[in-house]
Amino acid sequence: MKPNMEYLPGYEEMVVKRLPQMEPEQFQKWAALLKKRTGMRLPDNRISFLVTNLGMRMRELGINDFQIYYNYVCAGREGAIEWDQLVHHLTVHETRFLRQESVLSLLRDKYIPAFCQQSETRPLTINVWSVGCSTGEEPYSIAMALDDQLNSLACDFYLGITASDISRNALARGRKGIYSRQQIKNIEPRWLDNYFTVTDDDKFQVNENLRKRVCFNHLNILDVGAAPIGMMDIIICQNLLIYFDKEQRIQIANTLAEHLRPGGLLVLGVGELLNWEHPKIKRYPFANTLAFQH
Ligand SMILES: C[S@@+](CC[C@H](N)C(=O)[O-])C[C@H]1O[C@@H](n2cnc3c(N)ncnc32)[C@H](O)[C@@H]1O
Repeated sequence: MKPNMEYLPGYEEMVVKRLPQMEPEQFQKWAALLKKRTGMRLPDNRISFLVTNLGMRMRELGINDFQIYYNYVCAGREGAIEWDQLVHHLTVHETRFLRQESVLSLLRDKYIPAFCQQSETRPLTINVWSVGCSTGEEPYSIAMALDDQLNSLACDFYLGITASDISRNALARGRKGIYSRQQIKNIEPRWLDNYFTVTDDDKFQVNENLRKRVCFNHLNILDVGAAPIGMMDIIICQNLLIYFDKEQRIQIANTLAEHLRPGGLLVLGVGELLNWEHPKIKRYPFANTLAFQH
């Protein structure tokens, strides 16, 4: 969306100019804004990352002055809308289907069979939360793995997955659930047959049955305390905490722990949180994973 910026001072002269160099003070301003609003830390050596990604968005808008753009994203309702766009450019969305095979195997081979055995209620209800879900590959991978496993256990079940991210663009792509041949290359043919439909332009769309189990929600993880997120049986938060400093990682992990039902499982990315302790949580050992149980 291209907002109306004609009222911005200097706007007309700057449209065709190249982006200037970013001064250290300007970098600090942007880094502080990003930290305050998303929690992401931006070390000094990321200046070229910032310039490239701000520049991409500024070029789309025809702005070539970092301060003018800064003032713009900080002002009023239009600024807030623009910030939502910018966040997509400043966050890393790298993801893929079946990215962490060890986590899927933990769920499939250990946690779910035990969960099925211990719970007497039928249909068995399983609520999962994928935190920092990017464009959907992670929550859909979990959905396929759990659906497949629960069917093979002949267990009558209800599976609901909440998938949240700070980037609305990423969420919109997740909701559509359409992926290229390259993106689905790791998925075995049986799952492709069961869970995808080939589109007219040779893409692969997640079937409606699976899509409707995954609910994509806009959520800044820093605001999770105020979000209407219920209690979960499984929370997966991988490749997100690395962007936060240690104190914030602990704070986020504590909050996620508070959203776990007794017996629930929290899975973080390996090495993303060291020596974390929480009174209600203990380590859940499984090879190549960092998992905790309530
Ligand atoms: C590298 S991707 C990880 C995707 C997926 N979890 C995986 O492991 O494949 C990190 C995601 O975290 C999201 N993110 C970054 N800061 C966030 C925040 N403060 N709140 C929620 N999501 C955030 C980004 O938009 C991005 O989609």
